[in-house]
Amino acid sequence: MTSETLWYANRATGAVCLALFTAVVLLGIAVRLRTRLPGLPRFGTVSLHRTLSLSATAFLALHIVFAVIDGYVDITVVDVLVPFVSDYQPLWLGLGTVALDLTLAVLVTSLLRPRIGHRTWRAVHWLAYASWPVALVHGIGIGTDTGTDWMTWLTVACVATVIAAFATRLAHAARAARRTPAALLRTAEGVRS
Ligand code: HEM
Repeated sequence: MTSETLWYANRATGAVCLALFTAVVLLGIAVRLRTRLPGLPRFGTVSLHRTLSLSATAFLALHIVFAVIDGYVDITVVDVLVPFVSDYQPLWLGLGTVALDLTLAVLVTSLLRPRIGHRTWRAVHWLAYASWPVALVHGIGIGTDTGTDWMTWLTVACVATVIAAFATRLAHAARAARRTPAALLRTAEGVRS
């Protein structure tokens, strides 16, 4: 493969990663809100979330391999794992590395979930929310295609859907928090009467 082909492959897989990780975040929120997707049984949302997470991780691996084996820029395996030490675009590449490290933590704890328990798994799973915007800023900062029409539309679509889903998630959490004291009160009154 020529360096130019690797560069195109790196950019293409970067865009696919952004789209797939966005879908993973949306589906994660759908799982949490027990949303049933049209045409799928309830467990279908969980399966789709899991399958897309693994697909996104596979594309991320390709994205990284293309960047490392492209001899035109000097990106080492250490640069991939340790944030902000690269000679090439240390800040923007470092953010990609941070997103990768957070993604790996979420992935490993998900695979070990039966052993580590639900609480630990869930605490680490929150990192997925942090990883997504970090990866987004990485792509905007380092990407050759930033500013092109198609990349702008892809970015706007990803940001808009994640903000809408996150707002729904927060509204749901706020409703649940309001309901909890009321339910406790009702239980206490039931005990008294
Ligand atoms: C979850 C993690 C990541 C996501 C979602 C992601 C996504 C993206 C996106 C959307 C772009 C812009 C592509 C374009 O302009 O066409 C990009 C560019 C790039 N990414 Fe990542 N990335 C991630 C992690 C990494 C990591 C760990 C590396 C380390 C090797 C890396 C290396 C690069 C490079 C070198 C470019 C520049 C390509 C160019 O010249 O345009 N990325 N990434």
